[in-house]
Amino acid sequence: MKKVVLLCGSPRPSGNTYQVLEECAGVIEDQGLDVEIIPLVGKKIESCIACGRCGDLGECGLKDDLNQMITKIKDSEGFIVGSPVYFGTARGDVMSALQRIGMVSRTNGNFLSWKVGGPIAVARRGGQTATLQEMLMFFFINDMIVPGSTYWNMVFGWAPGEAKDDEEGMETIRRFGYNVATLIKKIND
Ligand SMILES: Cc1cc2nc3c(=O)[nH]c(=O)nc-3n(C[C@H](O)[C@H](O)[C@H](O)COP(=O)(O)O)c2cc1C
Repeated sequence: MKKVVLLCGSPRPSGNTYQVLEECAGVIEDQGLDVEIIPLVGKKIESCIACGRCGDLGECGLKDDLNQMITKIKDSEGFIVGSPVYFGTARGDVMSALQRIGMVSRTNGNFLSWKVGGPIAVARRGGQTATLQEMLMFFFINDMIVPGSTYWNMVFGWAPGEAKDDEEGMETIRRFGYNVATLIKKIND
């Protein structure tokens, strides 16, 4: 079955980002695809140290929790990344993960090519567009396919659960999930 991996960049287990990704995953599942949400909660993710070993090893040379995630992403057709906005940008661990995932792909046959997905940003009040732009750089340099939605993929919320009150944001995410699933099915027909 075709699969979409959704990386949740929040350190809060049932925070807004997780709840938004659950909604997105539900729509993708309804379209007949398999989904897996991978939370970064409790995971150790170091920053790329430019050791250049990924090409030889076939995985990242740093021994933390990332390689297990990379295997799952490799075996999927879709990849969605949700991050809370921290001081106007994506959470540090999210960008550390994306930079390493991208480097492992680029040194190992560009396995991210033609995977469908994109970023989602969640914040109390501001910084979502800069955060989306920051994360989009990963998708576009790695030959991935990013569909749009009816608005940018941003949701407002502060305390866990508030994001679900942002009906326009949630509808944008549901539509994005539908578009990701539909594209995956068309591409892999
Ligand atoms: C260190 C830190 C920085 C934050 N910076 C911003 C910010 O720049 N803009 C904003 O609107 N919210 C900011 N927030 C609030 C979070 O984005 C917001 O609470 C979001 O819902 C958290 O997502 P989560 O529940 O998935 O963890 C910040 C929170 C923290 C902990």
